[in-house]
Amino acid sequence: MKKLLVALALGTALLSEAKIEETLSIIKPDAVKEQHIGDIISIFEKNNLQVVAMRMTKLSKKEVEEFYSALKEKPFFPDLVSYMTSGPVVLQVLKGEDAIARNRQIMGATDPKKAAAGTIRALYGKSIDSNAVHGSDSEENARKEIKFFFSESQIYSEQS
Ligand code: CMP
Repeated sequence: MKKLLVALALGTALLSEAKIEETLSIIKPDAVKEQHIGDIISIFEKNNLQVVAMRMTKLSKKEVEEFYSALKEKPFFPDLVSYMTSGPVVLQVLKGEDAIARNRQIMGATDPKKAAAGTIRALYGKSIDSNAVHGSDSEENARKEIKFFFSESQIYSEQS
């Protein structure tokens, strides 16, 4: 009985801690070119991440430089800009319980060689530069990154 009460209390605590979040996802040029858009979205949906906004676009140099501006001093920055402008990408807002951390788990490590088996980057990434997907890494960045590409009216919510 005591064990049952502890399990119930733990369950309630876990339930009340789960936050509904939104995060930005980018399906990058390599994965779009190789026709993995559907495969990747299917992985999100199987993991309870709901697509609440989506748009395909070819990013300009200016957009990529601004989006990744925190990395502008990194030696790989020029390669990152040229890769992210090399073809169309698919931008999405994903929504769900702990969506930011969940998406990063599903994506796997930045370097596909180090990504856990079954993760998107292990399945579809080729190298650290060409790693199939991007996902926001914190609540603050998720807010900024979503706002960078989507207006509120473009994001589905049950109230809208
Ligand atoms: P992303 O999650 O989009 O964030 C920045 C990107 O820079 C990263 O994925 C990688 O594709 C790319 N990148 C290239 N080289 C490195 C590196 N050495 N460390 C981290 N990111 C890198």
